Amino acid sequence: MQKHRFIIVLINILWLFSLGYGQGDNNKTTSLLQNTYNRKSISLNGNWKYIIDPYETGYRNHRNWMPFDQVSSTKASAKPYYTDKKIENRWDRIEYNFETSNEIAVPGDWNSQSDKLLYYEGTVWYRTKFDYDLQADKKLILHFGAVNYRTDVYLNGEKIGAHSGGYDPFNFDITTYIKAKGNSLVVRVDNRREKERVPNLTTDWWNYGGITREVTLIEVPKTYIQDYFIQLNKDAPEKVNGYLQLVGDPKEKKVSIEIPEVKIKIEGKTDEKGRFTFEFSSKKLKRWYPESPKLYDVHFSVENDKITDQIGFRTITAKGADILLNGKSIFLRGISVHEENPLRKGRANSIEDAKMLLGWAKELNCNFVRLAHYPHNENMPRLADQMGLLLWEEIPVYWGIDYENPIAFNQAKSQLETLIHRDKNRASVIVWSVANETPEVPSRLVFLRKLKDLALAIDNTRFISAALERDEKSTANTVKIPDPFAEDVDMLACNEYIGWYSGLPDRCGEVTWDLPTDKPFFVSEFGGGALYNYHGDKRTRWTEEYMKYLYEEQIKMLKKIPTLRGMTPWVLVDFRSPRRNLPKIQDGWNRKGLISDRGFKKQAFYVLKKFYSEMKQRYETGN
Ligand code: GCU
Repeated sequence: MQKHRFIIVLINILWLFSLGYGQGDNNKTTSLLQNTYNRKSISLNGNWKYIIDPYETGYRNHRNWMPFDQVSSTKASAKPYYTDKKIENRWDRIEYNFETSNEIAVPGDWNSQSDKLLYYEGTVWYRTKFDYDLQADKKLILHFGAVNYRTDVYLNGEKIGAHSGGYDPFNFDITTYIKAKGNSLVVRVDNRREKERVPNLTTDWWNYGGITREVTLIEVPKTYIQDYFIQLNKDAPEKVNGYLQLVGDPKEKKVSIEIPEVKIKIEGKTDEKGRFTFEFSSKKLKRWYPESPKLYDVHFSVENDKITDQIGFRTITAKGADILLNGKSIFLRGISVHEENPLRKGRANSIEDAKMLLGWAKELNCNFVRLAHYPHNENMPRLADQMGLLLWEEIPVYWGIDYENPIAFNQAKSQLETLIHRDKNRASVIVWSVANETPEVPSRLVFLRKLKDLALAIDNTRFISAALERDEKSTANTVKIPDPFAEDVDMLACNEYIGWYSGLPDRCGEVTWDLPTDKPFFVSEFGGGALYNYHGDKRTRWTEEYMKYLYEEQIKMLKKIPTLRGMTPWVLVDFRSPRRNLPKIQDGWNRKGLISDRGFKKQAFYVLKKFYSEMKQRYETGN
């Protein structure tokens, strides 16, 4: 008997490794397709069936807690929800049924779609059905814009793969799983906060779960353009450098990169790894600026595949304390933004949401936006390219991550690689940030330095930064940033809440800042809360008058810092947070928005707008 059992266990272990298990969560995803935004695709957005499954009845054996999809013997049984079993006979015992379950909108977080899901953290099953007639000479890619947090994907009862990460796109090659009629796509989503996840156990934002961004089917030839990168050389801006990467049968293929508007066409052949690296003169190309965001149609082609992108050409560099955009000194007139449509009380994901949020930033006289605290949907960087807004993008290495855990590091690494992969061709993006308010312990410094090196290895054309902290413990009137990671960043950024968490606004007038003189200084957060239309004297907390006074005193203090080159006050709009529970003032909302959750502007909005108008004038007239 023992020998028999041993053989069964061995077969299961070998089967698991054949499925790629043990490689952590992101197993069996296919290399991420560059620029799905412009690829012809079929959308699977719409109303999907869903089942709430807090005890994971549809995923795990209730006796040994083993996932059904990791034990081959249970494949035939009705239990796993991903088999999408139908009730065929009146005596069948199946205790779930997608056909008769309720529907939920995809894309969209589940919290804002049903009162019973507002605070829900656990597993929800999604199911949609579709037909697809795939030609023999094509491949089919199933692409998710983002799903928070852990995703298991099944097609026609077969495990396609899994992904962990709440804000990063992923895709699977489903060519060999698809059938012409009646495909059943079942997706399991689990948004639990867990110690080794990124972010992990606590955040100051709502843990919106679900398929929060679009789901698309993208048909590509057997050999297709998987990736490309095209940028001005930041050290030699008279040159454009880049590469084009094929997958499939990629060797020795004729490829071309073309910018018809300026009659540029580069042709060549891929190497044995399917890559074509190119360089050409940038002489004919107008530079991209916030006030003149020039974008060119760039066509990337190989025999049976062609993809077009809208590319802006600009350089971002630092010289001493100055930030230079195309060699010209700039001040980053910014604001921090969460990915939330407060009017819908849910995750933002559409182009309309992006137009609302970035439109408010433009009204504020911004030329810069911090997309906090995680990668936003792709509408944001693409719209920013068009509107002339520079961007800070970041991964949610936020507060107390499990810095000593390799699973946590792999999560952060995967999210950073994916963010850079997706947005490296966006002119608007000038900062990759690897952390926000993280503890100054040795393991965290190692963790961040590895992320920084990774980012620079992929893309050395942008700033690396992180929202560090000032010496919070010090009560001295001289403010420093003792964080050792300050040496690693191109732009020294810190969050500071003098006048809100530290003293009253008067405190701003009592302190001076002691900062390095050879690096641009940037305030990544300051601010305070106010309930819209709640009024009183300027020292009554939560009134608009207090918030206005705080902004006035902060600006007076920051203007005195000679190396100050920008700021992104916290925050554009009130946003939801389970940590904010002051009745009649917060009620589950963080009230530091310059705009209320109903879209109304508070008095402080106009204080910042006026300051930015002055800074715009000053930097454009050069005095
Ligand atoms: C922190 C943090 C934000 C948070 C803010 C606040 O700086 O970075 O995510 O919302 O403070 O306390 O409002």
